[in-house]
Amino acid sequence: MIPKETVDLILDTARIDEVVGEFVSLKKRGANMLGLCPFHNEKTPSFNVSPSRGIYKCFGCGKGGNSVNFIMEHEHLSYPEALRWLATKYNIAIEEEERNPEQLQRDNDRESIFVVLQYAQKHFTKNLHDTEEGKAIGMSYFRERGFRPDIIEKFQLGYSPEGWRDLTDSAIHAGYKLEYLVRAGLTIQNEENKEKYFDRFQGRVIFPVHNASGRVIAFGGRTLKTDKKVAKYINSPETEVYHKSNVLYGLYFAKKAIIQEDVCYLVEGYTDVISMHQAGIENVVASSGTALTIEQIRLIRRYTNNITILYDGDPAGIKASFRGIDLILEEGLNVRVLLFPDNDDPDSYSKKVSSEELRDFIKNNTKDFIAFKTELLLSETQNDPIRKAELIREMVNSIALIPDNITRSVFVKECSRIMNIEEQTLLNELNKIRRRNFEKKKDSVVEQNNFVPDVAAQPTEQPALQQQTRTEYQEREIVRLLFNYGLEPITAETEDEEGRAMEIQVSLAEFMLHELSDEHIVFETPV
Ligand code: CTP
Ligand code: MN
Repeated sequence: MIPKETVDLILDTARIDEVVGEFVSLKKRGANMLGLCPFHNEKTPSFNVSPSRGIYKCFGCGKGGNSVNFIMEHEHLSYPEALRWLATKYNIAIEEEERNPEQLQRDNDRESIFVVLQYAQKHFTKNLHDTEEGKAIGMSYFRERGFRPDIIEKFQLGYSPEGWRDLTDSAIHAGYKLEYLVRAGLTIQNEENKEKYFDRFQGRVIFPVHNASGRVIAFGGRTLKTDKKVAKYINSPETEVYHKSNVLYGLYFAKKAIIQEDVCYLVEGYTDVISMHQAGIENVVASSGTALTIEQIRLIRRYTNNITILYDGDPAGIKASFRGIDLILEEGLNVRVLLFPDNDDPDSYSKKVSSEELRDFIKNNTKDFIAFKTELLLSETQNDPIRKAELIREMVNSIALIPDNITRSVFVKECSRIMNIEEQTLLNELNKIRRRNFEKKKDSVVEQNNFVPDVAAQPTEQPALQQQTRTEYQEREIVRLLFNYGLEPITAETEDEEGRAMEIQVSLAEFMLHELSDEHIVFETPV
């Protein structure tokens, strides 16, 4: 058995267009993608892929499903085999596990928690619209901030009244168990005296947090008091269904627009997301005040390779976020940056200008991250050569993380121009860093997945393997592929005598040996 969490991780990571794209050439058609169906013979494409819904569907032969179904069908694999196939593609380690009654229980518990959360959302929303306190306090607050009724409804905003047990008692009265209210993070229960319990959210306006499929998983509650001693926001704690680092606020409402615009705007808070929506810009998510995590980046990557970070212009905050941005580069995404004028965040700025002006402002002021970082840090070095050298190393470190060769060399050129330093010098430094990163990465992947030649898979032999040079490792892999798949027929692209592109059938071995000699690659390991 593959654990449920791992299955979820695989399903969350596997982008349907990437998976299908390995076998079918896809063209963009609005929010969807279109190609020739691999399951039946056709001349005009009727094979549809919807990245936002994570599914494919052929309108010719009727086949359809998610990434796992596609791999099962196409590669003739069973369900667990297909999951393993995807896990390998995305470098996800699988720990096997028997499915037992406890796990069944855990799934049921998760479901109960979801149901309680849904009840709470409806309750908070009803408070806001239908109770005197909710209308007088919560609704007036939203109105004052300029939130339109349709937006308040869309984001399912709510209100929790002053008092101790409004939500908890009403939920218990409606038949929900106290235990699940506690496990959902809605109710706080006294450890010693279980009779003592109270609502986590009191006297606050409520922002429900949804997962990518639209289920409520948590809440943020904003105080209406200006008292500095009261926390501005109270958020749900980590629960069985809410892991803060795996969630982006607003993603459910943004995903369609992210695909359409092919870029995701990243902002800081709940209100920034909502105000941008109100201004007609819907491809926006928030990291909710925490540093960006790798899981959040992978969520975005399901829909686009482009992230633009919208900052309010505070240099300390910006510098603190550089780590997170390196993570984005490492995942192969393009990062751009937009700085708002002094003292404005997306929320406040979007309310000062028209939607048109906001769009123009974004279009005209977005910079690529490498140029942005260089300029920002360069202005601080004040021609001090030592600090300039540090900065150059810092920049090269970031560029070295970019997986794509072409993108990397574009940035090296750009960096060389801005910093006024020889491109070759940068390249030398870059190659050093990449070699070092490669060694580190290789070792950790080998440990995780045992994806090494069988002869070396024994634990006792792993230390020896880790000593291998990069070249030896690659040569070994080539030999392994030749042994395992050398006779497999593949289609290769070549040119006929007149230079026209044509396809030919060759064996994998023929193809590989041809490519190696074409590139003048000679094996270094004698054995
Ligand atoms: N945040 C939090 N706890 C706090 C303060 C902030 O969880 N005590 C998170 C919230 O998700 C918030 C985000 O950090 O949305 C950004 O914080 P901030 O800019 O202070 O809040 P805004 O969303 O801008 O709220 P407002 O406009 O109402 O001040
Ligand atoms: Mn704000």
